[in-house]
Amino acid sequence: MQDDVLIVHGGSPLEGEVRVKGAKNLVPKAMVAALLGEEPSRLRNVPGIRDVHIVRGLLQLHGVAVYEGDEPDELVMDPSSVELANVADIDAHAGSSRIPILLCGPLLHRIGRAFIPDLGGCRIGDRPIDFHLNVLREFGATVDKRPEGLYLEAPNGLHGAKIELPYPSVGTTEQVLLTAVRAEGTTELRNAAVEPEIIDLICVLQKMGAIISVATDRVIRITGVERLGGYTHRALPDRLEGASWACAALATQGDVFVRGARQLDMMTFLNVFRQVGGAFSVEDEGIRFWHPGGRLRAIALETDVHPGFQTDWQQPLVVALTQATGLSIVHETVYESRLGFTSALNQMGATIQLYSECLGGTPCRFGQRNFQHSAVISGPAKLHGADLVIPDLRGGFSYLIAALAAEGTSRVHGIDLINRGYEGFHTKLAALGARVELPPQQSGIAVAADAAGAVHSVA
Ligand code: EPU
Repeated sequence: MQDDVLIVHGGSPLEGEVRVKGAKNLVPKAMVAALLGEEPSRLRNVPGIRDVHIVRGLLQLHGVAVYEGDEPDELVMDPSSVELANVADIDAHAGSSRIPILLCGPLLHRIGRAFIPDLGGCRIGDRPIDFHLNVLREFGATVDKRPEGLYLEAPNGLHGAKIELPYPSVGTTEQVLLTAVRAEGTTELRNAAVEPEIIDLICVLQKMGAIISVATDRVIRITGVERLGGYTHRALPDRLEGASWACAALATQGDVFVRGARQLDMMTFLNVFRQVGGAFSVEDEGIRFWHPGGRLRAIALETDVHPGFQTDWQQPLVVALTQATGLSIVHETVYESRLGFTSALNQMGATIQLYSECLGGTPCRFGQRNFQHSAVISGPAKLHGADLVIPDLRGGFSYLIAALAAEGTSRVHGIDLINRGYEGFHTKLAALGARVELPPQQSGIAVAADAAGAVHSVA
């Protein structure tokens, strides 16, 4: 598809301002939470990204009325007529996102059964759903796995459980929250994930009437209630998008004010950004990120669950690390296959070597298992333009950063994938002075994306 290629002329710094709205990894889940209520919910600061449109479609299939609110970027969801959706209609969403798995608990509570299509999401590892199915069974659900998807029922209702996760999985923690809030009795979840987006989901559920406490030792306790109401909530800002723009500023020697970025959610990132040699200033309305001149410093870094260095920050930062002097080490401990994108950076002139050993940090789940999950980046490298094919969401944005930092012209294929998680990224790039255009057949005009994430051209 012609629209799916972006031509990027690199070599000039990104300068100006972008705004980040609600977090991609919270908004679709807060939309699912609305299913649990018996009154309408209002979600604010909703970005126009593909994942939001997918969940909106899924909610509508289940009888939830979803419409725009009075405020800009506000969605209203009215779940008063929730019903079982047609399997074939739900199946049309197969492979589009990972969010459908989170509908299990809410649908079991509301209508006693659920059908979940085959999941999608970024190919950054195997991404199994075993933890999800195990916890649902602990609550009393039956799961029938068929080729087209999962059929779930709860013949005796859902009951609170004592659960310990083998790993602090974000999605499974959300699964437990969305199921336990209306299960009979109390639930204790050990080794829970506590990412800021999870805490924000807990805030949403508490507004609806849930009783949830979070202890400092990754233990979450939930007391089930019989009824939940609606909520009005402003989604926390997207700290992953914020960090992506920060890395773009650093790699292109630019200066970008990210309106909406919040220090509290980005503390770990900010520390690393400073260690590498980037400068930032925290202001009331956002955070300004810039390259202060001089050399960037090589670092050793390990990704981890919150409050560690988020895996989704890793890919954009690696592009900036190609510009640092010396050897940087990155140990990816959350996903086993999130470094494959570096081969394209090497094609552009970077020197990045992958290893299957756990380098520079503590041994992780992937050591001794032949997954290339550690990288040594030797810099600074002079990047040059190339033909690139986007592999996944964050890897894709990282290719854009690399193309912008490189000398010469790159053709980036598969840019539509970026619309899954970055609202109007073309418009934002143009606002920062990036020189991007559609292929020559379309006369080299700037491009923008509408709220649905569809690409169209602007004069
Ligand atoms: N895991 C299992 N079994 C399961 C569930 C997870 O083995 O049943 C493993 C995964 O394979 C992975 C690890 O546990 O190795 C962590 O996975 P987690 O469940 O935490 O990830 P997720 O919920 O699928 C969310 C975000 C990701 C983000 C991770 C980690 C959404 C929609 N996705 O995924 O975001 O990287 O948490 O913070 O919230 C992105 O935004 O680009 C993205 C991939």
